[in-house]
Amino acid sequence: MTSPIILAVDTPDLDIARRWIDATRASIDVYKLGLEFFLSHGIDGIASIQNETGASIFLDLKLHDIPNTVSKSAAVVERLHPRFLTVHASGGRAMVSAAVNAVTTTSITAVTILTSLSENDLAEIGFKGSAFTTAQSLAQVAVDAGATSIVCSPHEISGIRSVVGDAIEIITPGVRPADETGSDDQMRTMTPAQAIALGANFLVIGRPITSRWSQGSQAMADRAAEIVESIHK
Ligand code: C5P
Repeated sequence: MTSPIILAVDTPDLDIARRWIDATRASIDVYKLGLEFFLSHGIDGIASIQNETGASIFLDLKLHDIPNTVSKSAAVVERLHPRFLTVHASGGRAMVSAAVNAVTTTSITAVTILTSLSENDLAEIGFKGSAFTTAQSLAQVAVDAGATSIVCSPHEISGIRSVVGDAIEIITPGVRPADETGSDDQMRTMTPAQAIALGANFLVIGRPITSRWSQGSQAMADRAAEIVESIHK
């Protein structure tokens, strides 16, 4: 069974990334590498992580441009065959579809509304509905265009699930284990078990696991295993 945890490998350091992945492989199958890592190490850096660790990659590039440019960019990434590649749903139907058509096995993952945007921010840039209803309609358009996974806040899981159906994979950050002290800068968090019970397929978790690195690789491995176990209890 695939682990529901995606580790957010938020480091620009290739060697640390490799060690974090090695330390947690027993509990985690998919690893999120983002722009910071990609801009530091490029396609070759991602390929070396894949070759050395055998991990599946969630490539979080959040592509957003005209369809032709997104198509060509997704085609460059295609040779890595990441498990997931993110695009902004607000790029529109043709853009999402261009990404979908440029890849084969990769799931195009639509990011709806960034949770860093407040309702006021959305109104200011011209969105008419609430963050929640806008996220629902963006998810619907993206899925119609061929996206097979969606990133959303844990609080939007049920609402998004009701419009996209059961076949779409829902991936959510903003998750914190019940025994974690403090929630870093994450607001309105949920526990892993709550998010899975609401219908999330994958949870993106970073610091609750990676912060254990200072205590050694076994501490990090143990924390990842504990979190997976807390979901299955
Ligand atoms: O360390 P933490 O568990 O907060 O990491 C969560 C990961 O998910 C980070 O890589 C962060 O950029 C990403 N993310 C998020 N909230 C969103 C979207 C993405 O925390 N709304």
